[in-house]
This record gives sequence, structure tokens and C-alpha cells, in this order.
Amino acid sequence: MANTDIQNRIQELRDFVNRCNYQYYVLSNSIVSDYEFDMRLRELQDLEAQYPEYDDPDSPTHRVGSDQNQEFRQVEHKYPMLSLANTYSEGELRDFDARIRKLIPGVDFTYSCELKFDGTSISLTYVDGRLTQALTRGDGKKGDDVTNNVRTIKSVPLKLSGKDFPKEFEIRGEILMPHESFNRLNAERLEIGEPPLANCRNAASGTLKTQNSAAVAKRGLDCYLYYLLMDQLPTDSHFKNMSIARDWGFKVSENMAKAKSIDEVWSFIEYWDKEREKLPYDIDGIVIKVDDMHLRDTLGFTAKTPRWAIAYKFKAEEAASELLSIDYQVGRTGVITPVANLSPVHLAGTTVKRATLNNADFIQNLGLHEGDTVYIVKGGEIIPKIIRVDEERRKPGATPIKYIENCPVCGSRLVRNPGEAGHYCPNYAGCAPQITGKIIHFVGRKAMDINCGEATIEQLYNAGLVKDIADMYSLTVDQLEQLDRFARKSAENLVASLDKSKQVPFERVLFALGIRYVGEGAAKILAKKFQNMDALMAASEEEISQADEIGGVIAKSVYEFVRNEGNVRIIERLRAAGLRFEQDAVSVEPTSEKLAGMSIIVTGSFATPKRREELEQMVEQNGGKLQSSVNNKTTFVVAGLKPGASKVQKAEKLGVPIISEDDFLAKLA
Ligand code: IVH
Repeated sequence: MANTDIQNRIQELRDFVNRCNYQYYVLSNSIVSDYEFDMRLRELQDLEAQYPEYDDPDSPTHRVGSDQNQEFRQVEHKYPMLSLANTYSEGELRDFDARIRKLIPGVDFTYSCELKFDGTSISLTYVDGRLTQALTRGDGKKGDDVTNNVRTIKSVPLKLSGKDFPKEFEIRGEILMPHESFNRLNAERLEIGEPPLANCRNAASGTLKTQNSAAVAKRGLDCYLYYLLMDQLPTDSHFKNMSIARDWGFKVSENMAKAKSIDEVWSFIEYWDKEREKLPYDIDGIVIKVDDMHLRDTLGFTAKTPRWAIAYKFKAEEAASELLSIDYQVGRTGVITPVANLSPVHLAGTTVKRATLNNADFIQNLGLHEGDTVYIVKGGEIIPKIIRVDEERRKPGATPIKYIENCPVCGSRLVRNPGEAGHYCPNYAGCAPQITGKIIHFVGRKAMDINCGEATIEQLYNAGLVKDIADMYSLTVDQLEQLDRFARKSAENLVASLDKSKQVPFERVLFALGIRYVGEGAAKILAKKFQNMDALMAASEEEISQADEIGGVIAKSVYEFVRNEGNVRIIERLRAAGLRFEQDAVSVEPTSEKLAGMSIIVTGSFATPKRREELEQMVEQNGGKLQSSVNNKTTFVVAGLKPGASKVQKAEKLGVPIISEDDFLAKLA
């Protein structure tokens, strides 16, 4: 290669790594596969080593990526948080073993083999048995203080068991999102018109960086611990120390094994490469560590990684297929999702014909061309994804994929909001899939619960009978009977079901309207706070955002929705049709004055599902006033399990007493 070619390649690789790091650490977004990233990073490291004259202190090889985020307080790590050297090859793993044996000749030692959890790393500090701090890795020297969020993760002990734990220590591990939580989160995102998240790791790191710890609590994160740090460790064996940490209450994986030789390590790796698909969470490899702490001290560290450990990363099972075409799907809120149609191929037990392409950046980063041969993998996610293209098999004259500029259905020019990855079709009132998508959402079981399937809605729309959700209430049995496949009985059933839906409570009507970002939970909170549609429509953006757990994004979306004339017309027509736009009056007549003049908050979950509502009712029955957020008028907070972290924090700050359910009942006794 000529010198300028080398320089150009180095620059290209640096740009690529910087771009990926930014997306990954700042935006919690993966734009390439781990394998692709690791290979290009390695190529850059090799070129810089071979041509030191082109090295640059600002090269991304000289720093670990940073997950720091300006919204969190940054705190220095007591012990730097390093990462691990990694490899995809058995040969390099054996080299690692040979290197260690050369550094400590003749010493008989043991490896600890562990799962490499695919989440986001965390460092927890405990003082006197209580969790005092949780920091992300950040840049390895300083991390973000995410203590409030971590406190909501059930598997992280807030208070340790037993007595024999050290006065102060750190323990490190991985926060991850199990498949079940991930699939639930994505189903919820689709429900509120948001594009699904790409994988469990992004979902875990994105969640941990959320500013709303109450929202974090609902996401079902989990945390495995794998590294104890303190000046005087309990024993010289890492394996034993982790078992002791398990007794203190930490979640330490049972899937750890000791290995006396690199062959035994390899058997462990082969076993888990097959078995990992049965785990309820993602792992992306195996971590191999020298077990003995004294030997670790002897082996020491390089600038960035310990010499006593390595991560062997699994290469995802992949298959090659041909890109036949791309469909651009238009969702209910107008979000565009590109999906690749592929020549059918067998992969990890199923035949794959389609793969997600996420968004325009993803396609561009793949460098995808018409008819390309692509490699696909299946992760914990439901839809397989394309991880790279085979440039050598590219057809002569193939042109790069150009992302659409106009809606594939209605032709409107697409928009892309700054800072968002997806494109949107803005024609929400005139674009067929948006209209039918909104009606499908409206009739859904959790919304108006109208007995009407997707095919029927398409049929009604195509027949020109419904153009928006309000048109549903003008349908007549006679009209429906004229349609194909509609017998008189099914026409009558649909009209009866529409009639019955007029009894659906306000909170579900609000959810059914399909306001972007307003899921079932947010609708419930808004209905409770504003009591009726008129009050919500009159509220300012700020007033909306003051409702419990309603952040700025939801508030803006609601505010804009109810200011749109088209939406207002639909709301009025639904009101005229008899839908409920007022919260049921649960008039609670005070029967005692025990709590008169007191302002009270009930937060968290209790032993039974409806208990919180019961306690709230008791407050009102005894003359107390319920509040939704803590302020200097709050008399006390009744906290159950997993109380809202922001409420607890504010109460502690203002010196407002936080009492248990039993204390509260004692006051009423
Ligand atoms: S030990 C000095 N053990 O992998 C480094 N790390 O690529 C100590 N990880 O930053 C880390 N599972 O976030 C260790 N069983 C395990 C792990 C693990 C996942 C992550 C961790 C680390 C990264 C290194």
C-alpha cells in the first residue's frame, strides 16, 4: 500500500470507530455488529503499531469509549474500570494461555470460566452493608452516578445479608435486560408508536441512562455481579470470593466453572456456545480469568486491560442470503421501518425470509447495494438482522440502496426530526396505513375493546366507510351487511360492540386516541390528574408535565395533539357519539377527620395489586388530601415496595417522614 493509502485507511477506520462509539455510548444504538466493530478496531490498532509515524494521541484506540452523559453527576472511580482484551479465535486464546505460562513458569494454576453477560457494566459501592453508590463505567476513570436508577433493580441488594461483610467495598457486574423484559418493552413501544429497540444490550444501557427512576423500575432489568474489589479480599480465590458475595445477597451466576487447562476452558466455551440460546438473557462470550489473586498481582495490567483475563467472544451463527427487495412499512404514527426481503435461508432452526434494517443510518453503515449477498444473524431478538454484506460477491453495476424520500403509500415527503434515527410520514390524516393503524389501535382490547379484526378495518377503509376513528360510530347494520363476508349477524355484533364500547372508562378512551408516547400507564395518570378531556385540553405543556411520571416528551406530544384542529374535531365527534370523556366519579365521602388537613402520598407497590388504591381511598375517607408529587406541603409519604425513587429523594431532602403501610394503619387505628 502506498503511504497515502495507509494514511487514508487509518483515517477511514478512525472515523468509523468514532462514529460507532458515539452511537453506542452516547445514543445507546448499535450501527454495526460487534464482530465488524472489533475487526475494524483491530485493523486500526495493527496499522498504528506497524506505522507509528501515523499514530495520533486522539485516535480512538487510545481511549476506551465513554458512556458519560451530561445529565448525570460524574464521579471518579476508586479503582479504574478497565475492560478486557478480547478474541474470536481459539488460536489467540491458546496464545493467551501460553503467555501466562511463560510469565509464571512452572506454576500450577486454575482459571475461572464465566459467562460474558451482554449488558452494561456497573460498579456498586457498599458501606456498612448498604448500597451507597452505583457508577457506570464512563471513560474508565469517571462514571455516571446512576444510583437512583440502580436502586430500582430488584436483584441488586440495598442491604446485605449476614454480618461478615467488609465495612466498605466495591463490587462490579453487568446490568442486563432479560429477553422477557425486552420483548415486553418492545411490544409496549410498538403500542405507543415507537420503533422497537435493536437489542437487549441497547435496551439495558438506554434504560439505565433514563432520568426517570420510576420508569426504570418498570423495565425489569437484572444485575449479575462478577468482580469484588477492596483492599483486603476475603480469600485468595476469586471463585470463593464470588461464592461469599453470593451469601451476602448478590446475584452471582451459578454458571461458573474452574478449569485446570486451556483444553478444559475450550470445552466450557463449546458447551456454552450451544447452550446459550436456552438462557433467558444474552451472553456474547466467555470470560476466562486467573483465579488466584496473588498470581493476578504478578501478571498485572497493560495500559487498558488485565493480563490475567481475556474475553472469548462468540461469533453469532450466521447465514448468507440474497437481498431481493426492501419494504418500507408505515406504522400507526407514521414511523417508517425498512425491512429486507431475502431469499429464504435456514438459520438456527427456522427459515428466514425477512430481516430488519432499522433505519437509514443502519443501511448506510452496512453499505448495502441492490441484490447484495448479506449475512444475517438471530440474537435474542425476534426478527433476524443483517450484520454485513459480502462486497466481493456484489453484482457488477449494482447501485447503493438509496433510502426513500417519500412515503411509499401516500407519497408525502418524509421528515426526520433532529436527534431521531427514524423517518416519519407527516400525513397522519391522509396516509392509509396510518389511518387503519390508528383504527386498529383504537379498537384494541386494551383500548375500546371493539370486536373487529384488522382485516375488517382494512375492508371498511377500502369501502370508504371509515376514514378516521370517529367514523366507526356512524356504521349501521345495513351498511355493513352490504360488504363481502358480512352476514347480518356479524353486522349486528359489530354495531352492538361499538355501542358497548361507549361505556369504556375515560382513561382507556384517552389511550385509544393513539397519542404518540401515551401508553396505557400514561393515559391512566393523565385521566386521574385532569379528570376530564376539557381540563386536559386546556392545560399548558408545563401543567401536563407536572403529572406524576409524565416527562417532557409525553407532555409535548399530548399538548400538540389536543391543539391540532383535526384531532379536536375527532374528539368532539367521539364525544357526540357518547364516548366517556370524564373520569368516573369515585366520590369518597370522608367518614373520619383523622387525617384532616394532611397532604399524603402513597407510592410503590404493596402485597396485593389493588392495595395502593385501597390505601389512597383510606386517605380520602379519613379527610386527608392525596398528592401526586412531594412538596413542602406534604405531611408524610406512605411507601410500599419499590417506592418512586424521585419521591423518596425529594421527601428525604425536605425532611418529610416516609412511613410504612403498618405505620399508616396504626395512625388510623
Ligand atoms: S470481568 C478488569 N466478567 O465485559 C475487567 N466482565 O469486555 C473486569 N463482562 O467491561 C471485567 N461479563 O462489562 C468480567 N463475567 C464477566 C463479564 C464481564 C460481562 C463485561 C464487562 C467488561 C466487558 C469487557
